[in-house]
Amino acid sequence: MKQQSVGMAKFIPSWNARNTLVLMTATFLLFTVASATWAQSPPTSYIPVIETESFDARVKAKTAEKAAYAKRQSDLLAERYDLSDNPAPNVKMTRGKPIQQGVRVKLPQGVSWEQLADMKPADIKAKGIWPQGFLPLPHPKQEEGGMVFPKFHIDEIKKQEIDRDLTRFDMDFDLPDHFLPEYPPAIFLTTRPDLGDVSQGKVVTIKNYYELFNGILNPKQLEGLRLLLMPTAQQQFNMTADRMSLEPHRGVTCFDCHVNGNSNGTTHLVGDIRPTERRHRLDTPPLRGAYIQRLFGSQRALKTVEDFTEFEQRAAYFDGDPVSATKKGVNILERGSQVHFMAEFIAILDFPPAPKLDLFGKLDPTLATAAELRGEEVFNTKGRCAECHPAPYYTDNLMHDFKAERFFAEKMYNGRLASGDGNIKTFPLRGIKESSPYLHDGRLLTLEDTVEYHNLIFGTKLTAAEKKDLVEFLRCL
Ligand code: HEC
Ligand code: HEC
Repeated sequence: MKQQSVGMAKFIPSWNARNTLVLMTATFLLFTVASATWAQSPPTSYIPVIETESFDARVKAKTAEKAAYAKRQSDLLAERYDLSDNPAPNVKMTRGKPIQQGVRVKLPQGVSWEQLADMKPADIKAKGIWPQGFLPLPHPKQEEGGMVFPKFHIDEIKKQEIDRDLTRFDMDFDLPDHFLPEYPPAIFLTTRPDLGDVSQGKVVTIKNYYELFNGILNPKQLEGLRLLLMPTAQQQFNMTADRMSLEPHRGVTCFDCHVNGNSNGTTHLVGDIRPTERRHRLDTPPLRGAYIQRLFGSQRALKTVEDFTEFEQRAAYFDGDPVSATKKGVNILERGSQVHFMAEFIAILDFPPAPKLDLFGKLDPTLATAAELRGEEVFNTKGRCAECHPAPYYTDNLMHDFKAERFFAEKMYNGRLASGDGNIKTFPLRGIKESSPYLHDGRLLTLEDTVEYHNLIFGTKLTAAEKKDLVEFLRCL
């Protein structure tokens, strides 16, 4: 909470004249409320347990400051990225959503990607010309954090479950829909490859799972799926007055974020780090292909799907604060009869088909284009990608520290202190075109962005043609 006043104080002078009196008043309100309550308190890892104001007063204060924070975030996104809807021709996700093309991270004035690639990290840092879209992406409201759902998912759950509304009164999701995975996503089961996509084009919820899966899953997997679809209390959605929904809330389900076992782009703030200005934004990863992975969580590195399932409920749902979890009604899962059931279902979620890959996970030269084959060659040689992303699933199941802080000085952006990420797990690249945005925090919007990013981080000096081919290859995975 202390950072809240610091963050906003920096943000006030950069406001332009067009901002209305209402927003200024909101900011003033926010500033005084936040500082009056918390500015004097020493640093703490804990969230306050005792409520110091009425629920109605809190709703009023948070609602009043909502527009100012939303504008702060949309200004940052517009400054960092080209957000236009520009789909690639002839390439689609499994159920037909187009994928976005082109480098979307904006270059600083007067420099090209080639010039940046020729410079030493220390010189880029000294000149302050590291593209801002390569910095950690702040949460839509970093100071507050928590789960924020895209509107299309909120609408679908309201339609299916009626009294469960995932709207927050204090903030909305920030990235445009065209950068998110298709909705609803396809579902492939390792146990029934003969069936293809078993989603029937529906968002699986507690209302329809039985009808969709009875006769396809065994009873244990069916019960695991039911548990993945049952709402349980969470930091922002619970029955206490310390919540961000207008009505007391039954909570969120695992598949509210990992929808159909993939992702809908729902964002969160990592529970593992304090203070809040250093906490990573997290983009929900797909659970497809969890079965070949050995490390779970971008940094947490839990060793099994079972451990991560239990950890989500007990810790991630409550920002890693068991005090708050107890107050809000944490759902303690029983290891043998619940955690294992959920994990068994997760472990049969398959990657989407990649028809151009052979049995070794390499391109089949009789099916691939010349550009795709050249891209594979760059991936395996000059680009050095395969050293960390080896076939067939394109992950080494390890973690790596890119030391991106070689390229920029620490600085506050919207309540987030841009700093090095530390070790992050190597995400698998199978099915990668269906899980944008990219990196653990979703800071990169397209595959082209990931290529530019890696090219600068690793100093591989790829040519424009090599980068283009590499993207063609990534789209085959
Ligand atoms: C905010 C929406 C959200 C909800 C709800 C949610 N998760 Fe997650 N899940 C995430 C995010 C974000 C991560 C990445 C965490 C990290 O990088 O530390 C994640 C990671 C995981 C992983 C590890 C994936 C990997 O590639 O490392 C598993 C397994 C998982 N979640 C299972 C579950 C289960 C089971 C539930 C329900 C108990 C659940 N999740 C509920 C967002 C969510
Ligand atoms: C030294 C190991 C290493 C090398 C070399 C490497 N990567 Fe990565 N890659 C990673 C790690 C670690 C991440 C996750 C980083 C993060 O989330 O912050 C990642 C993330 C990605 C992602 C995004 C994954 C996702 O789910 O968001 C893509 C795409 C990618 N790499 C492609 C490439 C390409 C293409 C190359 C070669 C030009 C390459 N990588 C080289 C380790 C590596």
